[in-house]
Amino acid sequence: MPQPVLTYDRVEVSYRGVAIVRDVSFAVRPGEILGIVGESGSGKSTLIKAAMGQLGTDGLVTQGDIWYGDKSIPNLSPQALRALCGTDLALVFQDCLAALTPIRTVGDQIHEFMSAHRRISRSECDQHAAELFSQLGLENPQQVLASYPFELSGGMGQRVGIAIALMGEPHVLLADEPTSALDVITQTQVIELFSHIRDLCDAAIVIVTHNMGVVRALADNVLVLRDGMVVEYGSTHAVLTHPAQAYTRQLIEATPRLWGPEE
Ligand SMILES: Nc1ncnc2c1ncn2[C@@H]1O[C@H](COP(=O)(O)OP(=O)(O)O)[C@@H](O)[C@H]1O
Ligand SMILES: [Mg+2]
Repeated sequence: MPQPVLTYDRVEVSYRGVAIVRDVSFAVRPGEILGIVGESGSGKSTLIKAAMGQLGTDGLVTQGDIWYGDKSIPNLSPQALRALCGTDLALVFQDCLAALTPIRTVGDQIHEFMSAHRRISRSECDQHAAELFSQLGLENPQQVLASYPFELSGGMGQRVGIAIALMGEPHVLLADEPTSALDVITQTQVIELFSHIRDLCDAAIVIVTHNMGVVRALADNVLVLRDGMVVEYGSTHAVLTHPAQAYTRQLIEATPRLWGPEE
């Protein structure tokens, strides 16, 4: 079994000295998908932002450690962290379209983003992006590159966001509720997308969601978060078939079933 590429070791995250996430440990290996679930406010985004050094000025990892391979993320210099983020570690936003600048084309923004990390010509960048768009099921890739964000549907925007995250060929892909802004049909498509991404690259993928259907369909392991603490962590099959906690059962029951009967 390959070594974990991302490891949380008894992580505590605090905002202004108040611990919001406590004692969280997990590990993700290349090609593995971890689902993180929990009610709103349980600390899911905080947990994932900590790996990208995106906790803002108020937030800090106050206990434990987050390892990217053998690098301790909280101990990296801002420059070293910037160099990793967007390439080695990449984030898919909840609403990718909103994360783009409205007044510039998709192609311009992708090239600007990529240029911040390495020397890449515009044509090489466009070609790489167009390939990813096609692989992610976007028709007319050239037209998408020439589009402004408002010209794209939500589903297209999500694919563009995923393509941008994949441009740097990340080893860790973090997705914060990538389906919640979308309707159920598009969620199914996003699930297909992520299974495809798993096959496409050998990244470790962490998906934050409140949708147990997404977890059931995609995740190898699931971590259930409540009030910033882990209440369950284990193989998706084990946790969803025999949830140990009433909280987990409630989360399962609160999610509309997107797939057929449980095996
Ligand atoms: N920048 C911040 N400063 C202070 N508290 C925050 C900040 N961001 C999030 N929180 C608090 O941390 C808790 C967890 O938030 P969050 O990680 O966004 O949860 P989730 O993603 O599970 O909904 C919430 O109580 C939220 O109010
Ligand atoms: Mg959140």
